[in-house]
Amino acid sequence: MKIFLDSANLQEIKEAISWGAIDGVTTNPSLVAKERREFFPLLKEICATVNGPVSMETIARDAAGMVEEGRTFAKLHPNIVVKCPLTKEGLKATRQLTSEKIRVNVTLCFSATQALLAAKAGAYFISPFVGRLDDISSDGMGLIRDIKTIYGNYPFSTQILVASIRHPLHVVEAARLGADIATMPFSVLEALVKHPLTDAGLERFLKDWDQLPAEAKAWKVTTR
Ligand code: E4P
Repeated sequence: MKIFLDSANLQEIKEAISWGAIDGVTTNPSLVAKERREFFPLLKEICATVNGPVSMETIARDAAGMVEEGRTFAKLHPNIVVKCPLTKEGLKATRQLTSEKIRVNVTLCFSATQALLAAKAGAYFISPFVGRLDDISSDGMGLIRDIKTIYGNYPFSTQILVASIRHPLHVVEAARLGADIATMPFSVLEALVKHPLTDAGLERFLKDWDQLPAEAKAWKVTTR
């Protein structure tokens, strides 16, 4: 399963890349707005930093506007994937952009029927929002299970990008279900690394090492 970082923050993106942890980035208007920076230079910088797809969402509400914005985004950098919302207008725009070989991430997906229609429109990624479904007492991961089954029944090439991830168990479950990608905020990515037994184990190893006399600890590489 690929891992994407759900962030428009360059510091976080660079840090996650330095761990070898991420394969791409997703952003949305809320995440970009948080950065308080000029939009296009920021987007270009993110694309130049990440060696993989970078999703950015259109702002227009009508298909013609989304298509126009999508074309402009796509010209910025080859890593761009245009995000269109799962509305009738978004599906129209997806169909058009896809016919122009521009990759589309259909976002704000909350049902299996929506995911089916996105695949039919030619979406490159479908983004079901599991956390927001859990928030309203619906089964977010159940939706991933349904989409996986439906896509598996037919020759769709749309990749399932699990979005709105809130905690590590969402990531584990996404991988168990065979999702193509999980996108998550930096805080969740950090939580994937941490384990109290790793910290305690390391602490113990280093304490034990400190017991060794200084002479015994010294080593040097001898060359002939
Ligand atoms: C995905 O592409 C979205 O940007 C994101 O996952 C939304 O997550 P949220 O529900 O935590 O805002």
